Amino acid sequence: MTELVYLKKQESFSGSIPLFETIAGDIRDKGYSINFNALPDALMESLWLHMNKMNLEKFSPAGVGRKNNYNLNTFIRSDEICWINGDSDAGKAWLEWTKALQVYLNSHLFLGLFSFESHFSHYAPGAFYKKHVDAFKGESNRVLSMVLYLNPGWLPDDGGELELYLSDDDKIRITPSYGTLVSFLSEELPHEVLSTKRDRYSIAGWFRVNGSTLDKVDPPS
Ligand code: OGA
Ligand code: MN
Repeated sequence: MTELVYLKKQESFSGSIPLFETIAGDIRDKGYSINFNALPDALMESLWLHMNKMNLEKFSPAGVGRKNNYNLNTFIRSDEICWINGDSDAGKAWLEWTKALQVYLNSHLFLGLFSFESHFSHYAPGAFYKKHVDAFKGESNRVLSMVLYLNPGWLPDDGGELELYLSDDDKIRITPSYGTLVSFLSEELPHEVLSTKRDRYSIAGWFRVNGSTLDKVDPPS
């Protein structure tokens, strides 16, 4: 679809425009944004239903790093993931919504976001993701990270919080509650998923800039 068609589609997410505005302002002012009940109810519900009927066999252990450096390192992370490719109605609607956000951010923040990739994550009891950044300066084209949580009724004792490091000694702790959406600059904010005590579901996604050069198409799509 062309940007113009997406701009039209964005109208169907007009209820999300105040949220897009908040995210844009927060990212500009402080590099991150935390929003509760962020998505349209119908979209959230369809993602949750899809997540629940998806067979856990579709998930594979997540790796660390890119391409040649990619490896499975269960000391760093122990979640399982399933990439979202738009095969399902829920996945498709999610990608349309994130595209509307992308178009909004590009016209208000001039980030030049070019593509988006995302996956469901499952953290089984005991799973975690140690402190990391989603992109290394100059090495990756991931610009903006998004995490959406799919866990109704998360309790303080359930663990599995996301810790966002604003600086070495200043971090915020976020409960992975149903409908909470966290956005942050991929290169700027180290973060960590604390060990969870119950099954924890989320979608993690990244907006990327176009890192293509003459001899390399990156991102590939
Ligand atoms: C990630 C990540 C955070 C979360 O997948 O890179 O940091 O809270 N996820 O699931
Ligand atoms: Mn991360």
